[in-house]
Amino acid sequence: MGKFRIRGGRKLEGNVKVIGAKNAILPILAAVILTRKQVVLYDFPHLADVENMLLILKSIGCRIKRENSTLIIDPSDIKSWMIPDRHVKEIRSSIVMLGAVLARMKKAVITYPGGCEIGQRPINLHLQGLRQLGVVITESHGYLHCEAANMAGADIHLDYPSVGATENIMLAATCAKGRTTIRNAAKEPEITDLQNFINSMGGKVSGAGSNTIVIEGVESFHETEYTVIPDRIVAGTYLIAAAITGSEIVVENVILDHIQAVVNKLREAGCTFTPYRGKGLDAIGIKAPERLRAIEHTKTHPYPGFPTDMQALLMSALTVAEGTSIITENIFENRFKHVPELIRMGACIRTEGKVAVIQGVPVLRGAEVSAGDLRGGAALVMAGLRAEGETIIDNIRHIERGYDKLDMYLRSIGADIERI
Ligand code: UD1
Repeated sequence: MGKFRIRGGRKLEGNVKVIGAKNAILPILAAVILTRKQVVLYDFPHLADVENMLLILKSIGCRIKRENSTLIIDPSDIKSWMIPDRHVKEIRSSIVMLGAVLARMKKAVITYPGGCEIGQRPINLHLQGLRQLGVVITESHGYLHCEAANMAGADIHLDYPSVGATENIMLAATCAKGRTTIRNAAKEPEITDLQNFINSMGGKVSGAGSNTIVIEGVESFHETEYTVIPDRIVAGTYLIAAAITGSEIVVENVILDHIQAVVNKLREAGCTFTPYRGKGLDAIGIKAPERLRAIEHTKTHPYPGFPTDMQALLMSALTVAEGTSIITENIFENRFKHVPELIRMGACIRTEGKVAVIQGVPVLRGAEVSAGDLRGGAALVMAGLRAEGETIIDNIRHIERGYDKLDMYLRSIGADIERI
């Protein structure tokens, strides 16, 4: 198992490029099996979660070729409707395969995905939505047996705008008879990317990005070529890297609207930004002060609110800000695993329930710490960039679930980080 060694205190400079979004490519890989024709995906990120999803696709009969950052998938010959346990346990978000397999095979068997590092993560909203489409779901011995012989469009109101439930229902509904409306749908950019991908194969989905999504069932899909959106959380991570080290960098290949909530918070902390709107994708320059200012209160919310996936990263920057900051985590119940590790590095943080109070300190000290989850692990990398001396981060398999060569990209802008 790898570790990161970081020698902190270096300023960062130069340009760094963001790659395709993990949370966009995962549901898109599930959606690939809606068609029987070839799909070409450009700019896919090399991540452990993506590899796992590709193994699931292979196990049900997809043929996959890779050429650098291009994936060529032939889903013409899918024979299985059993989604293998091993991978579902490994990567929780593979639950979106359920909607796609139901659409294609009209039945599916999947193991019940358990909780994970950041919380319980129930799937009741996914199952309620699928049942409303006419899917008959029975549970036995930890498995969900699903039959979808008569799927028909329905009017579905989600109790909460769950990202995964919205995606799962969208996927199943593409092959249901008639029109499905999802109300109180998640509005995350990855949902819009999924809509655009499905439509690029001949689907009829509209409304993604708003809280009402309409899906007209279609009979068949054609081939497609598609480029996934850049990863807004990876972009945010580089902005935090600059902010915590008092540096000036340019982050390329971003969609400015997608990172607005993070930019606003870092502006409050004293950073200045230069947006570059290009013909294709945008870039953003960030210039951070020597010492950040505290941010009065940050609350995580569904998009376009401040993303829960940036909570730990923002907290790491605030550990060295001048003054006291408050963060409330509203989405997941167990998302402060990075706090004891940041405290080992000299941070002053108190938590109570879903609230963290961060009293800024002038210096962090390098220490041996351990990544407990993906974004919490990345937050420790950020703290290591700023800390005096050497930081060793253990358990980086969590980080590598969501960051493709984070060490290499950070080195390219001047960080002293290596994988050991
Ligand atoms: C997705 C993202 C994850 C991000 C999260 C919130 C992927 C692969 N992962 O996760 O990075 O942190 O959105 O932006 O895209 N809930 C229920 N019942 C359900 C489903 C969800 O109670 O059936 C609850 C969850 O426990 C959680 C909240 O709703 O408290 C949000 O979950 P959801 O939006 O579904 O997140 P994910 O799709 O799992």
